[in-house]
Amino acid sequence: MRIVCIGGGPAGLYFGLLMKKENPAHHVTVVERNKPYDTFGWGVVFSDATMDNMRAWDIETAQEIEDAFNHWDDIEVLIKGRRMRTTGHGFVGIGRKKLLNILQARCEQLGVELVFEREVDSDLEFPDADLIIASDGINSKIRNRYQDAFKPDMVMRPNRFIWLGSKKSFDAFTFDFRRTEHGWFQAHIYKFDADTSTFIVETTEDVATAHGLDKADEARSVAFCEELFSEVLDGASLMSNARHLRGSAWLNFGRLICGKWSHFNGTNHVVLMGDAAHTAHFAIGSGTKLALEDAIELTRQFREFGATADKIPEVLGAYEEVRAVDVARIQNAARNAMEWFEVVGSRYADTLEPEQFMYSLLTRSQRISHENLRLRDKAWLEGYERWFAARAGINIDPDGPPVPPMFTPYRVRGLTLQNRIIMSPMAMYSAEDGVPNDFHLVHFGSRALGGAGLLFGEMTCTSPDARITPGCLGLWNDEQAAAWKRIVDFVHTTTSAKFGLQLGHAGRKGSTRVAWEGMDQPLDDGNWPLISASALPYMPNSQVPRAMTRADMDRVKADFVAAAKRGIEVGFDIIELHCAHGYLLSSFLSPLTNERTDEYGGSHENNARYPLEVFRAIREVWPADKPMSVRLSCHDWTEGGNEPADAAIYAKMFKDAGADLVDCSSGQVSKAEKPVYGRLFQTPFSDKLRNEVGIATVAVGAISEADHANSIIAAGRADLCALARPHLADTAWTLHEAAKIGVKSVAWPKQYLSAKLQYESNLARAAAGPRPS
Ligand SMILES: Cc1cc2nc3c(=O)[nH]c(=O)nc-3n(C[C@H](O)[C@H](O)[C@H](O)COP(=O)(O)OP(=O)(O)OC[C@H]3O[C@@H](n4cnc5c(N)ncnc54)[C@H](O)[C@@H]3O)c2cc1C
Ligand SMILES: Cc1cc2nc3c(=O)[nH]c(=O)nc-3n(C[C@H](O)[C@H](O)[C@H](O)COP(=O)(O)O)c2cc1C
Repeated sequence: MRIVCIGGGPAGLYFGLLMKKENPAHHVTVVERNKPYDTFGWGVVFSDATMDNMRAWDIETAQEIEDAFNHWDDIEVLIKGRRMRTTGHGFVGIGRKKLLNILQARCEQLGVELVFEREVDSDLEFPDADLIIASDGINSKIRNRYQDAFKPDMVMRPNRFIWLGSKKSFDAFTFDFRRTEHGWFQAHIYKFDADTSTFIVETTEDVATAHGLDKADEARSVAFCEELFSEVLDGASLMSNARHLRGSAWLNFGRLICGKWSHFNGTNHVVLMGDAAHTAHFAIGSGTKLALEDAIELTRQFREFGATADKIPEVLGAYEEVRAVDVARIQNAARNAMEWFEVVGSRYADTLEPEQFMYSLLTRSQRISHENLRLRDKAWLEGYERWFAARAGINIDPDGPPVPPMFTPYRVRGLTLQNRIIMSPMAMYSAEDGVPNDFHLVHFGSRALGGAGLLFGEMTCTSPDARITPGCLGLWNDEQAAAWKRIVDFVHTTTSAKFGLQLGHAGRKGSTRVAWEGMDQPLDDGNWPLISASALPYMPNSQVPRAMTRADMDRVKADFVAAAKRGIEVGFDIIELHCAHGYLLSSFLSPLTNERTDEYGGSHENNARYPLEVFRAIREVWPADKPMSVRLSCHDWTEGGNEPADAAIYAKMFKDAGADLVDCSSGQVSKAEKPVYGRLFQTPFSDKLRNEVGIATVAVGAISEADHANSIIAAGRADLCALARPHLADTAWTLHEAAKIGVKSVAWPKQYLSAKLQYESNLARAAAGPRPS
């Protein structure tokens, strides 16, 4: 085959040499516009896994790269006068120049034709080639030529960065955060050869502009950074080698995804590779790794299908299929890490204490969890667990086992929870006339015995017409209060769990069948009239609600207050006001369901007016030593609906009205929603609200393991974690998860004590693997 790689970066060179090595009869050319040893940039990092892969494909290059590597284990973080260090993180760094030289030399050795100082304008310059690799980097001319085919989606990210170098040798991957009068800057620093380190400085557009850096040339930018980071530089200077850049030396990162990776131009097959196909932010430093792994995968597919011209279409299809998945995974992690650095100044740097800030930094990509950190640096993690537990008021035995964050107590007003796990509210549709019965006693009782710190009752309705279904629970009469009291008393006297009351009104989503007879479907008969913020039905076949009048508002508010008063008699420990999921109060908060033109619609302030009025009225009668939370849909997942920024505005309003916690849910406001589900998918909302608004939060949604909960709480992304479905699947979720992560200090009910040891031993035996026969 005749192969031409346009662009002699890591992707083009490595693919060239691998194919030539596969079959010396291939004619492979790499065309590069720069001179052989002329390149921009300093060092790149990659992981041990990439090296394993490279070793398997060309031991010679892998060996040379390894010999040139700088390996280090430690991460050091500087912030607010503190210098903190952790180990076990295993990175390798190499100069970009050195890497390219190794690849170039290997290409020459294998007989790859290297053409330097030739600027390629078009793939059509190589009509004889069977295959053209567009490895011409992020600004790929070849990709831009065939935009319709490749469908590139480039998003310029808001931060500005400058890629510098220093002759100071750093013995750890160092992150240095510095505040100026305009805001925060961060430096990402790592050594890549005996005497040189990469030194990337990053800040937000606003802060860069406030300092005039958007207009600063290279010399001024370098001088600025030298002064700002003088402590960590300790007299060393910074160097720039981005001479090729015009205008400001401060760049914006472009995040690139391509809809398709290959194209037949009428004569040759053209395929994207490396940065021409995708980018991954330097926050997790994987761009070079991705480029090299693209090269390996395309070579693998040629080996699989046969390296002849007729196989090219199949090979390219398979290459794209495999790589797109891997790249998406890395891009996801890179996105989390990148976004962390975009908000670090506004969200974490000022508010989190240095210890927690460091934990948040280490887990920024959300690929490294609490237990991963334990494997990397047990001593550091245990030190952090002790620090966290001490903040939560536990007396720590310095020699005893530490307590993971989810098992630390949480205090809010006069309420102390024994741990940070909540059984999330879950409608069971199993009541008659709103009265809790034996099902509810067993349902809640068994979960309370199962170790959760707080149980929330399902949405409990404030009047018969506030119900979602005829099976919903209520608290509008004494019979209901007495039945609730039996359950709450059982929980309080038999376990140390606390019990929360979630008060709600179904609004336009009321008068429907129980879930298993047709979720959200109107009743066959016995429907009751509905009210909502506006007269908009939930579904085309739903009943049309009446837009609430002021008289409706007064009545409903009085019902909420009466239910809250009954809640005091029952002995609930906390009230959560349900302002989520499209129910009555939520219908005011979302522009999708609130079309009012009076003082209850049209702006954040107006939309929140009635929900806040209800909140305040309850807060007035609810005892001052008992907390209140508010559940919000932090994202409507629908065009024109609320987004997390709107939720932050509402959270601030509820905070000012006396809310102690925001329970950060999302969706169910509109049938047109397109939620993006995934592990911990709503936790980013909790993170935003907690750290931007400064209110305690509950994270909920697809949290299913202790490791998830510990990572969330330890990083300060939430104060508490609520789990719904896992509690349906396992009544003793908390006790079981404690055992799974080896925490023995969590008490089991005394009646069940004999099972605890057996459960723990069985887990230990399973972890040790099969017994030798
Ligand atoms: C600040 C910063 C830090 C980074 N840190 C890391 C890191 O730590 N680890 C990591 O893995 N990655 C890092 N990267 C990313 C990494 O540099 C790229 O992902 C990687 O180089 C991609 O390789 P490539 O071969 O696809 O593209 P490139 O390395 O960009 O190579 C493309 C080549 O094509 C040539 N070319 C372009 N157009 C033409 C043309 N028309 N004709 C001829 N030649 C042409 C260019 O001169 C260049 O040599 C970082 C990037 C930045 C910006
Ligand atoms: C059967 C069921 C009933 C639910 N009922 C309620 C409810 O009454 N009130 C509420 O706010 N959320 C309700 N939810 C949502 C849960 O509280 C929780 O936010 C959601 O299930 C995501 O958490 P999970 O991934 O742990 O299940 C319900 C969820 C389920 C599965």
